[in-house]
Amino acid sequence: MELTIAIDGPAAAGKGTLSRKIAETYGFHHLDTGLTYRATAKALIDAGLPLDDEAVAEAVARDLDLGGLDRDVLSAHAIGEAASKIAVMPAVRRALVEAQRAFSTRLPGTVLDGRDIGTVVCPQAPVKLYVTASPEVRARRRYDEIIAKGLDADFEAIFADVKKRDERDMGRADSPLKPAEDAHLLDTSEMSIEAAFSAAKVLIDAALTKL
Ligand code: DC
Repeated sequence: MELTIAIDGPAAAGKGTLSRKIAETYGFHHLDTGLTYRATAKALIDAGLPLDDEAVAEAVARDLDLGGLDRDVLSAHAIGEAASKIAVMPAVRRALVEAQRAFSTRLPGTVLDGRDIGTVVCPQAPVKLYVTASPEVRARRRYDEIIAKGLDADFEAIFADVKKRDERDMGRADSPLKPAEDAHLLDTSEMSIEAAFSAAKVLIDAALTKL
């Protein structure tokens, strides 16, 4: 059986940090699947192509090289917005899900994080976590991150943005964000990243010993 740890949840819930820490601890390959949507969106923007043509976006998605995903380059707010728009297109999702599934078979194991890993990409994953936190807490974390970089931030704008992104991710027809039935819920609203990691490790170790 493929050893995949599936981690889903809304934007800014802490799943990226948690996924990287888990991958490092278990020596597994990590794929932040949000970056595949972001890279597709950026490639379209860079080529001056429209964001609302599904066939064009699919062609770009099929051409994507998973080896070249750079978090720093893809983290811009505008790219996240564009990614969220093309992520509603079924043909784009099919193309990216194929690449993500191929990645999930890498040995000795993988950690994939996103919105639909436990429900669509890797429904057979032996460990599924759904990492969440209240919209206020997630907006506060985003705000603190920006301020820590010495940049200006507007909390109300970030809060509105988090809620808008949730609506789009949870409300879309194809693969909406929701916990898989057998996912373990991890609410990090009142938890440090260390506490969330310890809780996740207990769940993962318990699942892995049963394999
Ligand atoms: O997690 P992120 O902000 O990098 O994700 C960017 C967008 O990509 C997000 O709005 C929804 C979409 N996405 C998705 O639809 N499915 C995934 N597995 C990962 C991300």
